[in-house]
Amino acid sequence: MSQSLPPGPDGIPVFGNTVQYLRAPCERRERWAEEYGSVVSVDILGMDMYMLTEPGLIKQVLMTDTGKYKKVESTKEHLERTIGDGLLLSEGDFWKRQRNLIQPAFYPDRLRDYADVMTDCATTKADSWDPGETYDVEEEMRSLTLEILVKALFGTDVDPDTRATIRDAVKALMLRTKPSTLPVVYFLPDWVPLPVNIRYNRGIRQINEAIDELIQLRRNEDEHGEDLLSILIEAETDEGVGMSDETLRDEITTMLFAGHETTALTLTFTWDLLARNPQKEAKLHDELDEVLDGRPPTFDDLPDLEYTEKVVKESLRLYPPAHDIRRQTTQEVTLDGYTIPEDTIVSMPLWVLHRDDRWFEDPEAFRPERWTDGFEEELPEFAYFPFGGGPRQCIGKTFAVNEAKLTMATFARQYELDHVEDGDLNIMAGVTLQPRNGLDMAVKER
Ligand code: HEM
Repeated sequence: MSQSLPPGPDGIPVFGNTVQYLRAPCERRERWAEEYGSVVSVDILGMDMYMLTEPGLIKQVLMTDTGKYKKVESTKEHLERTIGDGLLLSEGDFWKRQRNLIQPAFYPDRLRDYADVMTDCATTKADSWDPGETYDVEEEMRSLTLEILVKALFGTDVDPDTRATIRDAVKALMLRTKPSTLPVVYFLPDWVPLPVNIRYNRGIRQINEAIDELIQLRRNEDEHGEDLLSILIEAETDEGVGMSDETLRDEITTMLFAGHETTALTLTFTWDLLARNPQKEAKLHDELDEVLDGRPPTFDDLPDLEYTEKVVKESLRLYPPAHDIRRQTTQEVTLDGYTIPEDTIVSMPLWVLHRDDRWFEDPEAFRPERWTDGFEEELPEFAYFPFGGGPRQCIGKTFAVNEAKLTMATFARQYELDHVEDGDLNIMAGVTLQPRNGLDMAVKER
């Protein structure tokens, strides 16, 4: 039987549940899920949004009924100037064509090449650290994953000044999605001369110029390299159609945007969890000592870094950086008996699903050991989905897991990281989940 309106928390006039939602989004959503069930109605500034808390409903949206949903219009409007019509935002036949063209850049033979870049960059960063010093680990991981991505995308032969320009420009672009600035910039056009917008507009100019130059450079080369840009330049449909310069630029900017912060945050949360759980950290060290015996990790070590992988998986469960996947309905839909109108946003809060004690015993505990061979297979589909799922699952999933494992291995074979302040990580949820004030940690030689 169809019930018309899902239940949800009471709000206040005009603002509805907006303030509660923004203040402590993750824990609050967990409580709402417990109280109201599979579909929770939330009023965000007069707009109805429905939060889905059952794996089966998420499967319906992301996998079974994809034709009834699209990416959220307001998110598109907010990000369009930054990443254009790249893979993350594009839709329909154009998206499908682009996904097919780009997929080979993530095939295993390519991942082997990227693994060398990952370990080299991680080793350089680790060597730059002084034992006894304190570092903002979030900042360090962000600059590391950006350096890795820039090298994987453009090749190692690109001159260091151009790489530095691209890195600085990407950092400026990310400012408009930081949880602390998001509530302000979301409602203001980017021409309003706020410092964040001035840096953003300069960043857009710089990145477009730098990428356009690199596209021309690569197009004029007789032999194409193995970097991602070269692969995309060569990619053609069966009809022999390749990508225009503008499409290439959108795809490359999308990769830079979607592909570095998420991995940096995973690494940051993992360092935090390991420091809070010394026994797990010791187990990780044992594995690294046994597998690597003091040398840097390689692509061929990845299958043997089993516990390292469990650590990364468990960290992605507790702190999924892309913590809320959303879609907008393109027609009226029925979810668990409720009628949801066309043009309504449905939200899939990973934090809530990943901490559900029906699937995860002692869900708040950091327990890498739970990821036994059979455990994931027995989970309901979409009870754990840090990389999304269905046709729009993250294209960089294996790239990211390899990167996290190789980086963890490179640093943890050499160092132990400890908190310099007591207390919980103060987390904010914007486009991604991130620590409010970075994460200062002291580095100790093992
Ligand atoms: C731990 C790291 C990462 C996490 C947690 C993550 C998470 C996600 C999620 C949840 C989605 C689906 C979004 C949706 O359905 O609306 C997604 C899509 C995407 N990700 Fe990732 N990602 C990570 C790393 C990467 C990397 C390294 C790259 C590229 C090098 C990348 C590129 C993309 C792209 C292009 C899409 C859009 C795919 C499409 O719609 O066809 N991501 N990611």
